[in-house]
This record gives sequence, structure tokens and C-alpha cells, in this order.
Amino acid sequence: MKVLVTGAAGFIGSNLVHLLARERPEWKITALDLLTYAGNVKNLTALLDENRITFARVDITDEVAIGALFERERFDLVFHLAAESHVDRSIMSSLEFVRTNVLGTQVLLDAALKAGVGRFVHISTDEVYGSLGPTGYFLETTPLDPTSPYAASKAASDLIVLAFCKTHNFNASVTRCTNNYGPFHFPEKLIPLFITNAMEGKKLPLYGDGMNVRSWLYVTDHCDALLRVAEKGKAGEVYNIGGGADAELPNREVTFAILDMLGKSRDLIQPVGDRPAHDRRYAIDHSKISNELGWKPSTPFMKGLEMTVAWYQANRPWWEEIKSGAYLSYYERNYANRG
Ligand code: NAD
Ligand code: TYD
Repeated sequence: MKVLVTGAAGFIGSNLVHLLARERPEWKITALDLLTYAGNVKNLTALLDENRITFARVDITDEVAIGALFERERFDLVFHLAAESHVDRSIMSSLEFVRTNVLGTQVLLDAALKAGVGRFVHISTDEVYGSLGPTGYFLETTPLDPTSPYAASKAASDLIVLAFCKTHNFNASVTRCTNNYGPFHFPEKLIPLFITNAMEGKKLPLYGDGMNVRSWLYVTDHCDALLRVAEKGKAGEVYNIGGGADAELPNREVTFAILDMLGKSRDLIQPVGDRPAHDRRYAIDHSKISNELGWKPSTPFMKGLEMTVAWYQANRPWWEEIKSGAYLSYYERNYANRG
């Protein structure tokens, strides 16, 4: 079985490659990534050193390079994760989001169709559904109502994938997952940013009233769901993936838990101006994937958070190297005008 993982040097992609190498050791895996600011080939070092996977540095919008790769390798299965993924960056500048997330997905689909790829899993997000009030859950049938350029670009890519299923009888499924957390998470997102800032004794910039709710899923649970969708999911279907009831928390509760686990003071919390169009609540109904594919989240949130805190404590050089150079100018730009 020849398998391509795009975005393989990013957070979820690298965790997925590690899981596939463990669970399906007979698969021949190509790990593709452009290595943007968010990609880090060190996330794959152990597997590369052992020659367990092949790495390809390719831009998914480069139709010539992608076409040649697909013609040469004749993949049986593609997991498509490559994307620009941070909402705050999409608010500052959205061109790269449309280019990578929309055009890049289109280029991959064209190449996959032409090369006869047997199965394609498009990894998307619950953010395509927009914002929930205090009650209710996103279903696969919930209308798309994205509020950030990031979410809009993901929604557009989902629709192109689903159109390929209808128009070309292409064998693809779309997954929409809630917020992930765990090892190798780039420290611009809430959980790794707050863990590492707290470890450095820096302020934790909490947006707005800190009461926006996210439903958290440990990254390995997400990767396990992706493998199930690849092997058992149906063409043209969307699968919502999300955490358990214990994992649906306001940001301030998550912040308190991080500070408590690190033995740090709540004085480190710095309330700052809100994100524009900040989605109030995300929560997924994952009964479709549970009932049809037998998946459910297995890591309780507080246990997963403890494992994540321990990983950042044990891997300080990994994130210290990232939190320098271009990262610092992004940080300055994003947080400068929040008051
Ligand atoms: P990430 O930003 O950590 O990784 C994205 C990877 O894509 C990076 O390694 C980057 O170098 C690569 N990439 C970017 N542009 C590329 C291009 N043009 N060509 C090739 N590679 C390119 O993101 P992540 O958190 O790992 O998310 C992976 C996927 O999962 C994304 O599609 C995202 O929308 C989706 N998702 C993420 C979450 C989450 O909580 N992080 C939740 C649901 C869905
Ligand atoms: P984030 O990790 O960016 O994920 P997403 O926007 O895709 O859900 O943010 C998670 C939540 O944390 C979201 O409600 C915004 C909030 N947040 C802060 O309060 N401060 C921060 O510095 C960041 C990055 C996020």
C-alpha cells in the first residue's frame, strides 16, 4: 500500500505519520511538506533516521511537481492535511490561505484523479460550521457558515472535494474535527502558547472575556479516527470528529488547568482585546463516526493535557528554537494592538 500524507511535518500530519508507521508498518509512506514556518522536519526525525518513511519537500500548489509525483508513485491512499492553519494569521493576511487551502487542494485532486488514486481523505475542521450558541452541536448536515478567512478557505476546499465525488465518482471523504492538542503543536495556538509562555514566566494573552468554548481532542485520537475513515469510511461522506463532554471548556478553564499543572500563578493571565468575529463556541456531535465506524475519543482531557505539558517540559529545545526569529515578529504584530 503506497500512502501519501500532505502537511506531514506539521502538528497533526507528523502525529499521523508516527501513528501510521506504528499501526501499519507494512505501508510505504511518503511524507510531503513545503516546510513553511509551521512545518518542522525534526517532527519526523526518528522515522527518517530509520528509513521508515520518504520525505518530499513539495508545494501542493505546484501542479507540475505534484503531477509528476503522483504519476511516479501511483499512491493508493492520500491523507491531505497541508494547509495554512492559524485563524489569527488569516485575519492579518488571507492570500496564502486561499492559495494553499483552496488551490492546493484542487491541484491534489486533479493529480489524484488523473493518477487513479483509490482513496482520498481530506482533513478539515469544525470551524467551517461557524459559531454555536450556548447549546447544540455541529452535525455533518449543519450548514457551512465560516467566519474567518481560514475557515472560509477550508469550507471552499471541502466543497471542491465533495464535488469531485459527485462529478467524477472520486473516492474521497471529508473529516471535520474540533481543536486538537498534544505533542509537536506549533506554539502560536492556545494550548502550546500558554504552556510555553508560562514555562518562560511570560504573560498569557487571553482574548476577550476568556469564555469562548472549544472542544478539545488529543491529537492521537484524531489520527486514529483518520485511519478508520481511510479504511472504512464511505465515498462522498463527511465525518465529524470531536472530544468527549469533559473536553468542552471555556478558554479560561483551560488556562487555569495549564497554570495549575505547571505550579504557576494566575497573575500570569493577561486579558487582551478580542479576536475579530471570535467564534463563541464549537462543539461536535460525533455520533455518525461512532455508530458507523466504531470510533470514539479515548483520552480524557485532563489526562491529555498532563501528557502535553510533560511533552513540552521534556522537549524545551524543540519549542525554544521555534520561538525566535520570524516567530517573534509575528507575535509582536498579532498581540501589539490588543491593549
Ligand atoms: P500545521 O499548521 O501544524 O501544519 C500544516 C503543515 O502544512 C505544515 O507542516 C506546513 O509546512 C504545511 N504546508 C503549508 N502550506 C503548504 C503547501 N503549500 N504545500 C505543502 N505543505 C504545506 O496544521 P495542523 O494543526 O497540523 O493542521 C493540519 C490539518 O488539520 C489542516 O488542514 C487543518 O485545517 C486541519 N485541522 C486542524 C485542527 C487543529 O486543531 N490543529 C483541527 C481540525 C482540523
Ligand atoms: P486557537 O488555538 O487559535 O484555535 P482556534 O481559533 O482554531 O479555535 O484558539 C483557541 C481559542 O483560544 C480561541 O477561542 C482563541 C483563544 N486564544 C486566546 O485567548 N489567546 C491566544 O493567544 C490564542 C492564540 C487563542
